[in-house]
Amino acid sequence: MKIILLGYMGVGKSTLGNALAKELEINFIDLDAYIEQKEGKSISDLFVNKAEISFRKKETNYLKQILNHESSFVLSLGGGTPCYANNMELINKYSKNTFYLKASFQFLSKRLYNEKNVRPLLQHLKHLDEFEDFIRKHLFERQNYYFLANFTINVETQSIENNITQILNQLN
Ligand code: S3P
Repeated sequence: MKIILLGYMGVGKSTLGNALAKELEINFIDLDAYIEQKEGKSISDLFVNKAEISFRKKETNYLKQILNHESSFVLSLGGGTPCYANNMELINKYSKNTFYLKASFQFLSKRLYNEKNVRPLLQHLKHLDEFEDFIRKHLFERQNYYFLANFTINVETQSIENNITQILNQLN
């Protein structure tokens, strides 16, 4: 079984993925952690000198590696993974169990503002207004890709346990 969780930064993909994998007694893979381990560098270091394009190529290659070689897992993607290189098409080819973890931009902004300095895409945003504005627009653009997942789980209004139950009830 291949279960794939996607959604915006800070929505809780890794926390939920880890708990879900434990419940199902299958492997949990966090794509960011997988890339960091294979490259021997942090995600922030891989973004250095605005090297986002080279990061996106690596991200797609490691995604393919996981989809091709691992048989049963819960995989949490990076927030941008679905939005590049036809990755959603690829993901949906490999699995019917694709879940968009959804939350509002207000909820995500609150969560992300305090940790923006460790996030390469958010570091440059200084003030809360500017920050919220960026998240609102960015989330709006990215949702076009996120909604290509087979299921949407609203994580903002429910506990992790309820999110897990909802996912378990929809597995194919
Ligand atoms: C990114 C999200 C990050 C990480 C990288 C880029 C994005 O992952 O892959 O910093 O483009 O949204 P998380 O969503 O796990 O924070």
